[in-house]
Amino acid sequence: MNVPLLDLKAQYATIKAEVEAAIGEVFESQHFILGPKVEQCEKAIATYSKCSHAVGVSSGSDALLACLMAEDIGPGDEVITTPYSFFATAGAIARLGAIPVFVDIDPATYNIDTSQIRSKVTERTRAIIPVHLYGQMAEMDAVMRVADEHGLVVIEDAAQAIGAEHKGRRAGSIGHYGCFSFFPSKNLGAAGDAGMIVTNDAKRAEKLRCLRSHGSKPKYYHKIVGGNFRLDALQAAVVSAKLPYLDGWTAARQRNAKRYNQLLGEGGLAIGLPAVVTDRHIFNQYVIRVSDRDKLQAHLKRNGVGTEVYYPVPLHLQECFAYLGYTAGSFPESERAAKETLALPVYPELTDSQAQFVAGCVREFFACGPARAHASLNTVPALAGAAMERVS
Ligand SMILES: Cc1ncc(COP(=O)(O)O)c(C=O)c1O
Repeated sequence: MNVPLLDLKAQYATIKAEVEAAIGEVFESQHFILGPKVEQCEKAIATYSKCSHAVGVSSGSDALLACLMAEDIGPGDEVITTPYSFFATAGAIARLGAIPVFVDIDPATYNIDTSQIRSKVTERTRAIIPVHLYGQMAEMDAVMRVADEHGLVVIEDAAQAIGAEHKGRRAGSIGHYGCFSFFPSKNLGAAGDAGMIVTNDAKRAEKLRCLRSHGSKPKYYHKIVGGNFRLDALQAAVVSAKLPYLDGWTAARQRNAKRYNQLLGEGGLAIGLPAVVTDRHIFNQYVIRVSDRDKLQAHLKRNGVGTEVYYPVPLHLQECFAYLGYTAGSFPESERAAKETLALPVYPELTDSQAQFVAGCVREFFACGPARAHASLNTVPALAGAAMERVS
């Protein structure tokens, strides 16, 4: 059996008619840049995220960059974030000449360890970027407490977490800004690069709209320097066409996660299962933790199962950030996660027999190999039962 990590063709087969009709409308109108399709998409995403404003942009990466630019963050400023994320999170900070200041992760959720944030705040700190990794929100109450105490801006990197929720609040709606990515492999993916920023602050939304068009307002008059961060009408049309399906897809991802937890949770295997500590984890990724990760990945590949490592090198150890002066050992939990985590296929169209096959291959790996229990794994709660109570 062949089980890819993600099967976008299977998804497309179920929405082809709507997507093609939406694209057709854009072609008929020949209105490709901003315009009514983008506005429609912005309204829909704002509503979905329980925010009052949304600004369509060219990607999740540009969303982060535009938010930092909107706050005039630049050389000498410090921005606190996690070293265990996609590169864009810290890349956006560094591109503006600001300094990424990393805080290690909570080993159970892989999100920023909020108990360590306060000690990293200096007089140069301007912002915090918590990342809602794998589709589960970071501990936002704690982040906002530190931010409020020190007058810091909070930019939620919700690229992997559209629709994630805790205590009735959606990802992106708690900080001053929330950034989404519609990269095709995300739960709500466009047909290319696209992104969006949500905010509850009308002034901030206004500035972002200006920044995404080279800071121009009115046209050809520039008070600030921005960039070309506009969302294409074609991408907006695709995202809008897919949005009504998102909750169904999320439910299917949650069902698959629950199934894996059942299948992998039995028999005391040395596997760390996802710890769900918030009300709505949207499972952009279903990530397990094993000490012999690379061997397990190779075993699964031999059996036709696609997996991925998010992420093999934590950001503080990336070559381009050597100038920041971090070394191996600076953030032990991020480094350990980079060695032990593995994402299994969890996409909505995954069938039960595919899930059983994947779990069977994982179990076979443990059955065949030498005992692979790893002392460090014992510190990671395998919350199969408790965790899934929260999966709606
Ligand atoms: C956590 C995180 N931040 C930012 C981004 C950047 O988004 P994009 O690929 O749309 O630029 C991604 C996308 O992979 C992401 O996963």
